[in-house]
Amino acid sequence: MTSDRALRSSQWFGATGRAGMGHRSWMRSQGFTPEVFDGRPVIGIATTWSELAPCNVHLHRVAESVKRGVWQAGGFPLEFPAMALGETLLRPTAMLYRNLLAMEAEELMRANPLDGVVLLSGCDKTTPGLLMAAASVDLPAVMVTGGPMLNGKYQGTDVGSGTAVWRFEEDLVAGRMTQEECVFAEGCMARSNGHCMTMGTASTMASMAEALGMQLPYSATWPAVDARRYETAQRAGQVIVGLVRDDLRPSAIMTRAAFENAIRVNAAIGGSTNAVIHLLAIAGRLGVPLALDDFDVLARDVPTLLNLQPSGQYLMEDFCYAGGLPAVMRELAESGLLHADAITVTGSAVGANVADAPCWNREVIKTMAEPFQPAGTGTAVLRGNLAPGGAVIKQSASSPHLLKHRGRALVFDSPTDYYAVSNDPDLDVDEDTVLVIRYCGPRGYPGMPEVSNVALPRKLLLRGVRDMVRICDGRMSGTAYGTVVLHVSPEAAAGGPLALVRTGDWITLDVPARTLTLEVSDDELAARRAQWQPPAAHASRGWTYLYTEHVLQADAGADLDFLVGASGHPVPKDSH
Ligand code: FES
Repeated sequence: MTSDRALRSSQWFGATGRAGMGHRSWMRSQGFTPEVFDGRPVIGIATTWSELAPCNVHLHRVAESVKRGVWQAGGFPLEFPAMALGETLLRPTAMLYRNLLAMEAEELMRANPLDGVVLLSGCDKTTPGLLMAAASVDLPAVMVTGGPMLNGKYQGTDVGSGTAVWRFEEDLVAGRMTQEECVFAEGCMARSNGHCMTMGTASTMASMAEALGMQLPYSATWPAVDARRYETAQRAGQVIVGLVRDDLRPSAIMTRAAFENAIRVNAAIGGSTNAVIHLLAIAGRLGVPLALDDFDVLARDVPTLLNLQPSGQYLMEDFCYAGGLPAVMRELAESGLLHADAITVTGSAVGANVADAPCWNREVIKTMAEPFQPAGTGTAVLRGNLAPGGAVIKQSASSPHLLKHRGRALVFDSPTDYYAVSNDPDLDVDEDTVLVIRYCGPRGYPGMPEVSNVALPRKLLLRGVRDMVRICDGRMSGTAYGTVVLHVSPEAAAGGPLALVRTGDWITLDVPARTLTLEVSDDELAARRAQWQPPAAHASRGWTYLYTEHVLQADAGADLDFLVGASGHPVPKDSH
């Protein structure tokens, strides 16, 4: 295909003289024939492949399928690496680097002769990181997530990534499982390529990309090893060439209506609380007005339709075979809970994409009439003197009897401090205690790690207690469960009221009323504040310094302040 419109890549490859020769000649060292420089769209394939990011390790193969599609449609595909963020290995947390991936990918897309991009992601932070980048560059873009692993299988039962880890750990502590059994179970849980196959953050963000209209229908759910994952990738390669031709860009797709769709879909699938932070950050890049409270207001009418772990029973493979995300979105659309006219990368509106989506298993995908959990049980936004900027709680992963709770605080300044005593049989704690774990926010840890759902004290586990209220300024894995108040904002390290709580203070959590209250007078809090000292800086140089100096609070998406917004894709000056 050649376009009537001069493409930005033509300013590199269509150039005459020394500059054009340089741009083309070195590309030909890869064995390309000169026709690839005839003005056809140049499609970048941003891959977050790495052996250090096991959830993304097959993306090279996905990229090959994308390339087929790009060639088929008359484009010129060029694969390039973007920072791979593996959730399981990166310390102190992959979240510390989400914005770095977004910044790196944004700059690479703008600085290179690209007319459109295909975004290959998988593990948790790679999906939002690439979407943030694409939003700030605003070149035509299609996402292809790598797909979930096959269901884990252990001793004849399905085991879900992440979710099973928390249970195995509790069983180990409580003596219900041996260390040898745990090691064997590790291999049973992660038995194929792909990302976590619970409705954790990766599956949630893949679903968000589809709900936003940025990836093709069904793309979120094909297992990583399913041939249709590769078919979808090839189709995405064809589609991106058309998007360049039509100049259909992320800013036209990721509108306020698309974000509202995504928020409602997140409620319907029982998605991760991490979606709140990531969607706020992506919206910030686009200038789309989106606030923390939107997540509560928009989700209140939406029941949980999906019976998937960690809130329910099944796993992503089951979700795929039951009909995938379009079947969920159809339910919402038919109830008027979807902006059906929001445009997607298919070039069609989302309503048309999902209008005929079948459901093959109502055990997995429930209906609006008979949902898995009633409306209003999704992520709730809490406010109060303990969280003036807001906090969130995933109701569907919480214990119903704890959603209204009053208890005395037991305060720790880090998860490490807590775990140092959590096995102590004399720890002064009971099932009514409210565990406060702080200094785990964006600045605090740094990077806002997924440490909020600390395991329960051993003495309570041995008594059969399986849940208690925990409050933290950090995050929780999307695969986790428990009555955990997350993302408390402002965080303790930024001087939020969480820093002023003392062991023995009374705290009231009232999720139906959406409040989180520290029962300490304003005068007393002011006196404590006068004594409070901010923690020492984590770094005096490098990325961690830049990050902690500029990171926004969770209620603003934890982006860096200077990365909010977009710079578009003007062609930079010549390099030589
Ligand atoms: Fe990569 Fe869960 S660890 S998606």
